[in-house]
Amino acid sequence: MAFYYEEPSRTFNEYLLVPGHTPASCIPAKVDLKTPLVRYRKGQEECPISLNIPMVSAIMAAVSDDHMAVALATEGGISFIYGNQTIESEAAMVARVKAYKAGFVVSDTNLSPDTTLEEVVALKEQTGHSTMPVTDNGQAGGKLLGIVTERDYRLSRMSLDTKVSEFMTPRENLVVATEGTSLKEANDIIWDHKLNSLPIVDANDNLCYLVFRQDYDTHKENPLELLDNEKRYLVGAGINSRDYAERVPALVEAGADVLCIDSSEGYSDWQKMTIEWVREHYGNDVKIGAGNVVDREGFRFLAEAGADFIKVGIGGGSICITRETKGIGRGQATATIEVAKARDEYFEETGIYVPICSDGGIVYDHHISLALAMGADFVMLGRYFARFDESPSAKVMVNGTYMKEYWGEGSARARNWGRYDLGGKKSLSFEEGVDSYVPYAGSLKDNIAVTLLKIKSTMCNCGALTIPEFRDKAKLTTVSSTSIVEGGAHDVLLKDKTPYASRVR
Ligand code: IMP
Repeated sequence: MAFYYEEPSRTFNEYLLVPGHTPASCIPAKVDLKTPLVRYRKGQEECPISLNIPMVSAIMAAVSDDHMAVALATEGGISFIYGNQTIESEAAMVARVKAYKAGFVVSDTNLSPDTTLEEVVALKEQTGHSTMPVTDNGQAGGKLLGIVTERDYRLSRMSLDTKVSEFMTPRENLVVATEGTSLKEANDIIWDHKLNSLPIVDANDNLCYLVFRQDYDTHKENPLELLDNEKRYLVGAGINSRDYAERVPALVEAGADVLCIDSSEGYSDWQKMTIEWVREHYGNDVKIGAGNVVDREGFRFLAEAGADFIKVGIGGGSICITRETKGIGRGQATATIEVAKARDEYFEETGIYVPICSDGGIVYDHHISLALAMGADFVMLGRYFARFDESPSAKVMVNGTYMKEYWGEGSARARNWGRYDLGGKKSLSFEEGVDSYVPYAGSLKDNIAVTLLKIKSTMCNCGALTIPEFRDKAKLTTVSSTSIVEGGAHDVLLKDKTPYASRVR
């Protein structure tokens, strides 16, 4: 006979935190959001990789490319570069993040002398980059021939078919530095010559990096940035349970710091086989997360298989229709609470702490606080990050409002059927995600600052200065449908009719 859970499974919206005592010493400026990313013997050793903020970006083509990875690592979190692309292009994205090296950017928007003004304008629109190097082969690493910035062309006066070679600032007029120049030296050159960017070339005049004035400043301003021992940004990468024998070596070679199996349902032999393959070839040197699961048994299975962290959540994602198409899933709050208990039991038994990630369904900033209080070590977000300048998706005007495109990995648009592994060849498939728009929200930096302040304020209201303390002290209550009404603005005539949810998330 089928097993029935006595309680309905619940979502974040059905919970609130009841505040505790706040000592005068407990202020947001003192809150430390550091949290473990991968398994370790808690109490006996340091976690090999920790995050400085408990947020990671989703393994999705609309969310996590190398630009997002740099922006998020700058703030203290990590991105998982999407796996639904060729092995070469995923590895190249990882390599670009690692090559970014505290201000040294490998340009991914390169022009050739024959590129037209029209193509330059389109590229600028698409990538948001206004500084584009010109190389002989139109690629990073080619011989540097010049640079194009907005100051080099005037659309009102020039024909769109003008070739780059006719209006670029040519190599002989450029200030460049050679490979081996330190960031400090590069910055001095930038200031001395009043430049916005400085190309770094090798002995053969091939372009290696660009150093931007603002990047150096940003570097100094970001105390939480997530760096490896060589001061390179940390980056994660998504893999699947099919081509891991080829994909994993390429990603490891490119410098990925952590991998994650991207699948809608992780309680499967395919995930176990993938983890075992990694252990067989790399021992514990390569870190690998797995998932997604929604109950105790799923967690146990993946923890025993050796997963370094485990993602929780099926069907809660904003673009997800898994529950409608397959009837599987569980309310995200209930799933997080149960899996957190399983993690703690596993730790009691083995001394090994396997961090869990609540993945999907974060709508309001306070949902992150709830997930942490319920036991998540960190959260994965797709919709949240898709709204920012740094996400790879297009910014478009819809009915007079700027939107960003956002689509599920299981949508017909992504055709990422590899994450729905049931073995064998795929002959038939069906959608588990939709294609959508989300309101454009500006820069990641500005938004994340507000989100983190809200989380820290909530933690202080509960008397907590760290995530483990928050979890211990948190008092959670379920809400009734009428108290949800009471929780919003009510019985007043609103001046701004836009619902709060559309103004702020
Ligand atoms: P969001 O933050 O609510 O937008 O959820 C993002 C999460 O949804 C991702 O991290 C995935 O776990 C999940 N997801 C991504 N694409 C799909 C899909 O097409 N169908 C179902 N779930 C998806």
